[in-house]
Amino acid sequence: MSTNIAVLVSGRGSNLQSIIDNIETGHIKNARISVVISDVGNAYALKRAQIHGINNVFIDPPDFSNKQDYEKKILKVLKDNDVDLILLAGYMRIVGKSLIAAYRNRIINIHPALLPSFKGLHAQQQAFDYGVKVSGCTVHFVDEGMDTGPIIIQKCVPVLDTDTVDELAARILEQEHKVYPQAVKLFIEGKLKVEGRIVVHL
Ligand code: GRF
Repeated sequence: MSTNIAVLVSGRGSNLQSIIDNIETGHIKNARISVVISDVGNAYALKRAQIHGINNVFIDPPDFSNKQDYEKKILKVLKDNDVDLILLAGYMRIVGKSLIAAYRNRIINIHPALLPSFKGLHAQQQAFDYGVKVSGCTVHFVDEGMDTGPIIIQKCVPVLDTDTVDELAARILEQEHKVYPQAVKLFIEGKLKVEGRIVVHL
């Protein structure tokens, strides 16, 4: 049986690309991206979806009077596309309760820092400014909090004395493109079990 994936995006979509590539090369098996949903009309991620012949939708938040109605529309698109798994890939919105309730432990996000440090926006800059010697990225399930859900995989990246924040971010991104597909593969193969806030690798 094939897993239908929805990828939610807002920007350039390099993590979306890594998932597409891993499916196309057969590294991730028994999965297809059924739809890419963006809350930003000119997100390059939408273009990437088009290039690969993937169904893509722009849903404009200002078209809805509140977050609940906006997410109702997202839920309809997810249902219409028989989506089993949601991947957030640079999606710049907090996922609301209705979406989380409908897809409990089936929404995954990637964050460019070692959680629980440096939650929220500009995580690489936060880590850089704090002066940590090691940062990295975290793939985790999404719960009601911001960047608080059960952790699936983390990857460390050293912060070098010579680094600029952009160099650090680029080195973290390189790892993001490896660990996100790895986590998706584990999920699809049924090798992840969530026990409270602990993710057990079966
Ligand atoms: C990545 O750094 C990801 O960790 C964060 O947003 C960025 C998205 O980049 N959540 P891209 O759109 O996947 O290139």
